[in-house]
Amino acid sequence: MAFVFQCPEKIIFGCGVASEVGEEARRWGERVLLVVGKGSARRTGALDQVVEALVQSGLTVSIFEGVESDPSTDTVHRGADLAREFQAQVVVALGGGSVIDAAKAIALLATNPGRCSDYERKAPVNSVLPLIAIPTTAGTGSEVTRFSVISDLDRKVKMVLGGSYLIPKIALLDPLLTVSMPHEVTAATGMDALTHAIEAYLSTRAQPDTDLLALSAVELIAANLTQAVYNPQDVEARSAMLLGQYRAGLAFSNASVALVHSMSRPLGVYFGVLHGLANALLLPHVMAYNRPACPERFAVLAHALGEETVGLSIREASLKAVQAVRNLVLDIGIPRSLQQVGVKEESFEIMAKDALEAQSTQFNPRRPQMDDVITLYWEAYQGLKGN
Ligand SMILES: [Fe+2]
Repeated sequence: MAFVFQCPEKIIFGCGVASEVGEEARRWGERVLLVVGKGSARRTGALDQVVEALVQSGLTVSIFEGVESDPSTDTVHRGADLAREFQAQVVVALGGGSVIDAAKAIALLATNPGRCSDYERKAPVNSVLPLIAIPTTAGTGSEVTRFSVISDLDRKVKMVLGGSYLIPKIALLDPLLTVSMPHEVTAATGMDALTHAIEAYLSTRAQPDTDLLALSAVELIAANLTQAVYNPQDVEARSAMLLGQYRAGLAFSNASVALVHSMSRPLGVYFGVLHGLANALLLPHVMAYNRPACPERFAVLAHALGEETVGLSIREASLKAVQAVRNLVLDIGIPRSLQQVGVKEESFEIMAKDALEAQSTQFNPRRPQMDDVITLYWEAYQGLKGN
């Protein structure tokens, strides 16, 4: 057996570690491009905290503000223009997965010619700017992964850029930055992280080390997500979620995601459904579909999800994994059906075609056909019933 495990040079985890950003950034130069979203980092004081830490370390900062959810190629190109004009030597991303994904593409294009889409299938010629990622949500794991998802509005696709050069040099994981996340963001991003962990564990590219990370992530997220949603100030639950989501990120960055992600991207492209919510709406249905292909793995997942499996057959235990995820979705108070979030049946076919063409589909434990994917969209459209 042989495999390569890729991760950031340094992962720093703990309450208050965001203020170490200045000392870390100084390793690469004095000119820092700070990439942030549409205002939440400013509102919560996280932006001031990070700017202060950078300035106190003697660095010059230019702020690129306004990165939207599901960042577009236009945003990335504007950010890269600013990075070049400012002659940035290091990029710092402060925000959720969208901000970090945009910052990865900005760091790439700041030193490389052409447009974002040029790098969908090829590696850059010049080394990309070093990136320090500071997440303010607990979900995407983007601060430790080799992927960046950028929306190409002209082609109506979500481009997945992937390569070791996109892995941030440093991930600064500070649970205190995540306590201000609103209810629905905590719930949706938490479900994104759970989907990463479950898909990495079931992926045909799973390896022993990604299994360890994925199962640990499932345990942490299943045990703490509901608490983080309903008691947002609980720093212990927030810490467990942040730890779980980055382990999930490392797991899928090395083992891939699978059919849930292939199916959720079109929901974002055609209907603007946010990534984490789209995954949450699909996950229980896709799990039920995948279960017969690998019931032993589902039985292990059931245990990690907190279910009692002693004395059960593999089949019985495997069914408990699907039920546990259904219950979690029902508990965290998010929409339960594609219908509820404005998805239209007429698009099932085009979305299913896109999903089948997505690279992650080939790593799904069960090989889906067109009819299977349409049926899954239909089931998710009708949604979950229960309390
Ligand atoms: Fe995801």
